[in-house]
Amino acid sequence: MDVKTQLKETVDSIRSLTKSTPAIGIILGTGLGALADEIQKETVITYDKIPHFPLSTVESHAGRMLFGKLGGKDVVAMQGRFHYYEGYTLQQVTYPVRVMKELGVKTLIVSNACGGMNPQFNLGELVLITDHINFQGTNPLIGHNDDKMGARFPDMFNCYDKELRNLAEAVALDEKVPLQKGVYVAVSGPTFETAAEYRLFRIIGGDMVGMSTVPEVIVARHQGTKVLGFSLVTDLGLPDAMEPCSHERVMAAAAKGEPKMTKLVKKIVERMNA
Ligand code: HPA
Repeated sequence: MDVKTQLKETVDSIRSLTKSTPAIGIILGTGLGALADEIQKETVITYDKIPHFPLSTVESHAGRMLFGKLGGKDVVAMQGRFHYYEGYTLQQVTYPVRVMKELGVKTLIVSNACGGMNPQFNLGELVLITDHINFQGTNPLIGHNDDKMGARFPDMFNCYDKELRNLAEAVALDEKVPLQKGVYVAVSGPTFETAAEYRLFRIIGGDMVGMSTVPEVIVARHQGTKVLGFSLVTDLGLPDAMEPCSHERVMAAAAKGEPKMTKLVKKIVERMNA
């Protein structure tokens, strides 16, 4: 079955369960999980009820699509995302982004946990993603291209929308939430980086590194969806001052940064013209 037909079946099924018509989509990555509590939920659909949605692996969490209001706006939020390192194809990882477009989403907000490589960054800080380097060694758009869905060779100009970034910076200032800016390097994972790898990623222009986000962003840009992205610094990738890193450390640091990220994104949505 081609992806167009799959998407139609997925969207028809979702439409039969909700009347919501969100223009804003949010992927609740690490650091943004608590935003789920802020959404006045109208409809909640677990992924296993959605035709053609990837099935969650054991380690994935909730796995729900939330429809409701945030900051007075209709939003759809993905609680639980799919990662390349879990064994999904990048088509599976990015399928929800395609679905969001069919549901009417014009702007996608993404978040992730990252290793901070810029020595100016501190643990627990928020970073506005200004650009990315795709170091996953693959791309979700490899293969047949349906020109009706997007260009064969998509432009990555203004990938992280400048107007949305300006808004994010303005809101951060007003809300007194410190917000760094940086370039995100996406790797496949699941290994954290060696000291030599952190050094490499810093040298090639990266400020932070992580295992998600870029596939979804590429597909969003392919289909013309605007993107706003944030990273939460959960560990420091400083090659000359390496410390042990673990999933537990990352999650503990993410939990600390979460309230700031949640507040910022809620206020941004409130002030978006969508
Ligand atoms: N490297 C890669 N992915 C990550 C890191 C990191 O240091 N921290 C959180 N996700």
